[in-house]
Amino acid sequence: MLLEELGDLRQLAKRELDALNGQEELDNWRIKYLGRKGKLTQVLRSVGSLPKDERSSVGKVSNEIKSELEKIFQEKKKSLDKKRYDDKIREKIDVSLPGDPVHQGKLHPSTRILRQIFSIFSPMGFQIFDGPEVETDFYNFELLNMPPHHPARDMWDTFYINEKILLRTHTSPGQIHAMKQFCPEPIRVILPGKCYRYEAITARSEIMFHQVEGLAVGKSITMTDLKGILIEFAHQMFGDARKTRFRCSYFPFTEPSVEMDIDCMVCRGEGCQICKQTGWLEILGAGMVHPQVLKNGGYDPGIFTGLAFGMGPERIAMLKYGIDDIRHFFSNDLRFLEQFG
Ligand code: FA5
Repeated sequence: MLLEELGDLRQLAKRELDALNGQEELDNWRIKYLGRKGKLTQVLRSVGSLPKDERSSVGKVSNEIKSELEKIFQEKKKSLDKKRYDDKIREKIDVSLPGDPVHQGKLHPSTRILRQIFSIFSPMGFQIFDGPEVETDFYNFELLNMPPHHPARDMWDTFYINEKILLRTHTSPGQIHAMKQFCPEPIRVILPGKCYRYEAITARSEIMFHQVEGLAVGKSITMTDLKGILIEFAHQMFGDARKTRFRCSYFPFTEPSVEMDIDCMVCRGEGCQICKQTGWLEILGAGMVHPQVLKNGGYDPGIFTGLAFGMGPERIAMLKYGIDDIRHFFSNDLRFLEQFG
């Protein structure tokens, strides 16, 4: 008789547990069936007072039911906990909402042009070589053929740190560093970096800007190589349609010296405000390395010759993208910077 009741109790407990849905109901269920005064506990307590022949079978079955109920109680508790956790998360995260847009950065126009310059010169065999931004007067001027008081020093207004140390005014001192490092091997390097000049800031001139220097030293390098390299560069940078011309110029560290122009892309050579009615735009300075400079770098100018050039990526970017004021480059205005994909 008692065994039958136990069977019913088991069925009922399982059905009720299946049906319940909340933490409070679960607690009540546990108290009702497994608690100290719960139904099953009462049966187990009464086992001692049963007739001997019923005692062991009732005791055994009650214990089995008790462990079964405890087991399914734990499982139910787990599944209710998980459901509660999932509901909480769903409350907080509405997965149907559109995501926050990710802000994507853009490359600075100087960086874009610098990378373009590298990718034009690299297939021609030019490696990148880094020189120091803080230079000595000796490297920035003297070794480039400008002893103290040489009038050509006026071409570069200089930020001096003390009598002997300065912020480099151009990347040309890097030529000497490269020569000293590679001598007596042939050289083909480009030297990119920041330069500083104590100048009035205008729409065309900044006190800090970039330059990329080029240097090739070898046994049979001629002016023709210099022209060929630079014309190829101008066509790759500005398009095959651009005309180029070389004008005589002067730099103390090159002989002969030239400046290279491209025909104005705005008026196509007719003359306009951008090219100051000349039809031409200057893009770089260049020349054959002066014999004294080769000597200063350790090379015998009787055996070696060299070509060198120096250009300003900001000025190139201004021409390419039609930027009318160099001050935009370093004023950190995102409206300007975000225009360059
Ligand atoms: C020089 O600095 C020479 N060292 C170039 C050179 C190298 C000649 C090797 C021969 C052989 P220049 O002062 O012209 O030359 O400057 C070269 C380029 O730097 C200019 O064409 C221009 O693009 C850029 N530049 C010069 N000053 C400024 C400035 N204040 N702001 C922005 N760009 C500048």
